[in-house]
Amino acid sequence: MSRIKNQGRLFLELIDELRPHWRKDPGLPNRLSDWLVRHRAGSRDRRLYRELAYTAWRILPWIEDASPETLVQRVAQHANRTPDTAAFIEHFASATTEPIGPPEDLLPDWLSSQNSAVIVPTQRDTLLQRAPLWIRLQTDDANAVATELTELQIPFEPSALIEGAWKLPPESRITQTHAFQKGLIEVQDIGSQALLHSLPTPPTGNWLDACAGAGGKTLQLATLLHPSGGTVTAHDIRPKPLRELQTRQKRAGLTNLTVSRSVAGKFGGVLVDAPCTGSGTWRRSPQLKWTTTTARIQRAQEQQMLLLARFSQHVEVGGLLVYATCSLCHDENEAVVETFLRDHPAFRPAPLIHPASGQNLPAGRLALLPAELDSDAYFVAALHRT
Ligand SMILES: C[S@@+](CC[C@H](N)C(=O)[O-])C[C@H]1O[C@@H](n2cnc3c(N)ncnc32)[C@H](O)[C@@H]1O
Repeated sequence: MSRIKNQGRLFLELIDELRPHWRKDPGLPNRLSDWLVRHRAGSRDRRLYRELAYTAWRILPWIEDASPETLVQRVAQHANRTPDTAAFIEHFASATTEPIGPPEDLLPDWLSSQNSAVIVPTQRDTLLQRAPLWIRLQTDDANAVATELTELQIPFEPSALIEGAWKLPPESRITQTHAFQKGLIEVQDIGSQALLHSLPTPPTGNWLDACAGAGGKTLQLATLLHPSGGTVTAHDIRPKPLRELQTRQKRAGLTNLTVSRSVAGKFGGVLVDAPCTGSGTWRRSPQLKWTTTTARIQRAQEQQMLLLARFSQHVEVGGLLVYATCSLCHDENEAVVETFLRDHPAFRPAPLIHPASGQNLPAGRLALLPAELDSDAYFVAALHRT
C-alpha cells in the first residue's frame, strides 16, 4: 500500500477511535495525543494527523454521517495546506469546491440564544476559521525579534491596534526560536492581550491574579506593572500550570511576580480570569463546539459566581476587580456580573475602553468578538470597590 493510502487508512482508524467521544468529551485532544503515542508517530505525522483531526472537529456535522471515503475527501478538502498535509490533500481532496452545506451547520444550535452578535456573517465566518498565532513582545528590542523571524522565513504582521502584538501563521514553530527561548516573546492571543489594554490607564500597585493558570495574562500584567514598581501575586488551584508559569517567569526575567498557593490580604487590583466553557476559543479548540451543552454552561456559571464572590473579598476599598472569560455565553458573562453587582452593592461598574475602536465603555463591560482583532472571543468586566 502506498504511504499516502496508508495515511488515509490510519486516519480512518483514528476517526473510529474518536467517534464515540466527539459529542461528549471536551478532552478529545488528549485522546488524539494518546493515539499518536501508541502509533509512535514521528513529528511530521503528528502534525499531519493533528491537522486532520482538528479539521474533522471543525466540520463535524459535514462528516459524521458520511461514508469513510467521503469523510476523508471532505477533511482533505478543508484541511490547512502545510508541507506536512500537502501530499494528503493532493491525493484525497476532490476537485470540486462546492460548499457542503451552510456555515450555520458548523455552530451549535444553542449559540444564538447565548450570543446573537457572533452569528452575524462577518463574526461567524471568522469564528469558523482557524486562528492565527499571536505573540506578545516582551522586549523593547523589536528589531532583534523581527530579524530572527525574517531569517527563519516566518512571516509576521504587527497589530496596528495593540502594541507589541504580532500575527504569525497558525503553524509557526515559534518555541524553537532564540527569541522565545530567551523570553523576548510569549505566545498570547491578541484578544487575551487586549483585556488589560481595555483599562483606561495602565495598571499600577499590587495585583492578585486569582486564576493565573500557566500565566498568559499574569506575565503581561507583571510586564505592564514593572515600570511603576507594581507587583503580581499569581494563584491557581492547580499546581502544575503554576510550575509552568514559574518557568515562563524565569524565561522572561520578571522579578515583580510571586506564585502563591494560598491567598491572603487585600490588593489594589484583582483579576479573576475565571474557568469557563471556552466557547470563545473554538477557532483553536473546535471540539468544544460539540461538547459544550447548556448544562455545562450552567455549571460553569455557578463556579464563576462562587469564584468572583470569593476573590472580590481581596479587593481593597478603592481597588479594581476585573472579571474575564474566554466564553461567548451571556450566562457566563453579563449574567454573572449582573448577579454579582446585585449581591455586592459595594462594587460599581468601572469604565473600560474598547481596544479596537477606542470607544468609551462606561458600563465597564467589553465583549470582544473574533472579527474585531482576528482573535479568540473574550469578555471582560471592570468593577470598582467603593
Ligand atoms: C481561564 S483559565 C486561566 C487562564 C490564565 N489566566 C491565562 O491567562 O492563561 C482558568 C483557571 O482557573 C483555575 N481555577 C479553577 N478553579 C479555581 C479555584 N477555585 N481557585 C483558583 N483558580 C481556579 C483553573 O485551574 C484555570 O487555570
